Amino acid sequence: MTLFDQYLGKIAAASTSEAVEALRQELFGRKAGVMTMMMKELGAVSAEQRKTKGQELNVLKVKLESMLDARLREIAAAQMSDIASRDALDLTLDLPMADSGHKHPIHEYIRKAEEVFGRMGFDTALGPEIETEHYNFNQLNIPETHPARDLQDTFWISSRGRTVLRTHTSPMQIRYMETHTPPFRMICAGKVYRKDSDATHSPMFHQIEGLMIGPTVSLANMKAVMETAIKELVDPNVEFRWRTGYFPFVEPGLEMDLRWRGDESKSREGRWLEVVGCGMVHPNVLKNVGIDSEKYQGFAFGFGVERMLMIRHQIPDLRSFYQGDLRFLRQF
Ligand code: DAH
Repeated sequence: MTLFDQYLGKIAAASTSEAVEALRQELFGRKAGVMTMMMKELGAVSAEQRKTKGQELNVLKVKLESMLDARLREIAAAQMSDIASRDALDLTLDLPMADSGHKHPIHEYIRKAEEVFGRMGFDTALGPEIETEHYNFNQLNIPETHPARDLQDTFWISSRGRTVLRTHTSPMQIRYMETHTPPFRMICAGKVYRKDSDATHSPMFHQIEGLMIGPTVSLANMKAVMETAIKELVDPNVEFRWRTGYFPFVEPGLEMDLRWRGDESKSREGRWLEVVGCGMVHPNVLKNVGIDSEKYQGFAFGFGVERMLMIRHQIPDLRSFYQGDLRFLRQF
């Protein structure tokens, strides 16, 4: 059998590109390749023979190389031809539904509040969560000595720059009044932060601030707006009560509590939960932003979003809102 015939069989039998490359080495390897050795032997024959033998060897070399290359192409083509069956997607396969998320009840509540207040003519504003001491406290008539500034309650960000994670949404009253001319009505929803944590307190929670300023805006207007909004946002039959309350930026100040409905353990039944702080904007606050308190007056309020949802859905522990448990979230 000639060398050519022998390799014709071997190359045809090679089934992987690695096997083909191994044959290439066997033939043309620099040191011990079969063809390489034969080329080397040419040096020992006569010039006449070297010419004819050399030509023969060259023809053989070109043939073998092109057979090796052709076999490589065949192997690659065979791999491509069955890729369709190997990589096919079975579009009829019935996979279990992947878990998707769910709209968060806090988010939905805020949307709804923007709609309810929007119908009563309230603009929607947004404010920064990192606030300066100036807006978070000073301009709101909260003195240096007020316990609200206590390190126990407030996340101070830097003692030099005097910035805080806002402890309430009330600084937006100031920012809004600085950039708008009365009369106006606005609400501002967002996250607020305090060093507090138990079933009814969380270090981060949500508030909706409201502000209405005009020549004749009264406490009666405030109660009407609050009661309308709460009936729509919590429950038309919710029981509520008004109490006086102290906040440095309003005078008089009020608080509103909502009543828990009955529960099995009877632990909350009939008890009250504070959900709103509000009142008539203090003249010092109006003065701080250059609004003439002889001409204008109005009210401000701060809603506790989680707490309203707790009453609306009878949720005993506010921390349920932050655990991201779909079994909880899907109930809304
Ligand atoms: N900012 C107060 C708080 O976080 C709530 C509040 C009370 C807001 C009275 C008001 C208000 O606008 O008038 O406790």
